[in-house]
Amino acid sequence: MSRTVYVNGAYVAEEDAKISIFDRGFLMADGVYEVTSVLDGKLVDFPGHIARLGRSLNELDMDAPVDDAELETIHRELVARNDLDEGMIYMQVTRGAADRDFTYPENARPSLVLFTQEKPLAETQAAKDGIRVISVEDIRWGRRDIKTVQLLAPSMCKMMAKKAGKDDAWMVEDGFVTEGTSNNAYIVLQDGTIVTRNLSNAILHGITREAVLRFAREAQIKVVERPFTVEEAKGAAEAFITAASTFVCPVVEIDGISIGAGEPGPVAKRLREIYIDESRKQAI
Ligand code: PDD
Repeated sequence: MSRTVYVNGAYVAEEDAKISIFDRGFLMADGVYEVTSVLDGKLVDFPGHIARLGRSLNELDMDAPVDDAELETIHRELVARNDLDEGMIYMQVTRGAADRDFTYPENARPSLVLFTQEKPLAETQAAKDGIRVISVEDIRWGRRDIKTVQLLAPSMCKMMAKKAGKDDAWMVEDGFVTEGTSNNAYIVLQDGTIVTRNLSNAILHGITREAVLRFAREAQIKVVERPFTVEEAKGAAEAFITAASTFVCPVVEIDGISIGAGEPGPVAKRLREIYIDESRKQAI
């Protein structure tokens, strides 16, 4: 079935959507994006995603194509037009079309594209069984805090995991885990403390991360934000990832070594439940 998508002011059938070949998103990966999850036809953590989009645009001196209220209207309109109950909305802003040049064009108009993706989120096999990851070198650029569309490095890392028969990769820089290919990474120490890398330019400032750490602290679980190594992860009681596309998902193996009991742990399971319950309540 053909989806209705949004392209620069128009709602069109996906096969009719068009973007210029001179668009700098296409030529230079000069664009940023957000992925917002949809539960019960409602937007999860939407203010956080809008705020992060604003930050990404600002870091790249890129204009916003429309204001925040209009972005919310478009999200809602796409949910309604596609009758989306559970899944994701992808939103991409690029600097727009201009003759190819490394400097930013003076007068390009930013392009805005959004589409929906149906996907089960609350009940998934990955959440039930946990996922298995491998560690790989983090070969990405130095501004991972900006959510740009240049995703070839994480795609390559994910393919390494797939070729190894595993589910995902945790990327490692200078001996420490940065994050997953499309998610933030956590371990749970034997005393129940959650450890996740502190915010910096080395990782994406996950919107799910922010909510999950808040819920963990509210549940009196100790949280420490600092880098950790793969060796420390192998000896942890539990591990998990977070992202808008996976919520909280347990990690049960790293580089062939079982973590804890080799099955989803109680902290990850509890945080997943809290996150889904709270998201259903707070979604707009
Ligand atoms: N990815 N780290 C990276 C590198 C990511 O790409 C993502 C999200 C996250 C988690 O961020 P959030 O909790 O805001 O979704 C962390 C999205 C889902 C994607 O590219 O599909």
